[in-house]
Amino acid sequence: MAELENIQNLRENFKKQNKSCFILGASGATGKELLKEILKQQLFSNVTIIGRRKLTFEEVAYQNVNQQVVDFEKLDEYSAAFQGHDVGFCCLGTTKAKGGAGEAEVKIEELNFERCTIFKPALILCDREESRPLEWCARKILGCLSHVMSITALSVPISTLARAMVNNAVIPSDKKVELLENKDIHVIGNQDETKTS
Ligand SMILES: NC(=O)c1ccc[n+]([C@@H]2O[C@H](COP(=O)([O-])OP(=O)(O)OC[C@H]3O[C@@H](n4cnc5c(N)ncnc54)[C@H](OP(=O)(O)O)[C@@H]3O)[C@@H](O)[C@H]2O)c1
Repeated sequence: MAELENIQNLRENFKKQNKSCFILGASGATGKELLKEILKQQLFSNVTIIGRRKLTFEEVAYQNVNQQVVDFEKLDEYSAAFQGHDVGFCCLGTTKAKGGAGEAEVKIEELNFERCTIFKPALILCDREESRPLEWCARKILGCLSHVMSITALSVPISTLARAMVNNAVIPSDKKVELLENKDIHVIGNQDETKTS
């Protein structure tokens, strides 16, 4: 992974290309953090968030973010919202109990994107507004343990995950489909000292 050492150069080259991106799920924990990181790094000349409801942002940094509200049950009618973007980030999701899991990866691969990276984080360490008791307990325990021992196999800070997604977008790859496990997310997300907060 020699390219990882050149992340700053890769970012600068990427910026010059005036690329545009869309984010699905920008209202969720991961999507929010990803949007924050993307705006902070100013990597894209155009950022669109696509969701099922309009979001309100107070900060100046968000003033040029485009928003598209779509009906996810009738996506065929909203294909225009997805067109004209170079990179798409999908942070849609739910709990396994709510939504089930597993089939998505297979279906995504079948879509035959030019390049597709699937991130498989372990427990995401974040402050979540929604009540999820088991996730909350695990997060508290792992959050405390992470101060005294390395538990990178079991969890990932949400800022690291967001940075890994952004870093990965600027790193060239000849792999059409790539699966990044939790340990890979830690490596790619910690490639530089630029922190989101
Ligand atoms: N949290 C973890 O520890 C963890 C660990 C490993 C993997 N993951 C996976 O990572 C992904 C993101 O997790 P997260 O914790 O960031 O999720 P999250 O906070 O629950 O956010 C989910 C996002 O998906 C949107 N969404 C959910 N159902 C939708 C639907 N039917 N139609 C349209 N939009 C919908 C939500 O929009 P609204 O705001 O409109 O509801 C929100 O933007 C999920 O797939 C999750 O399974 C999470």
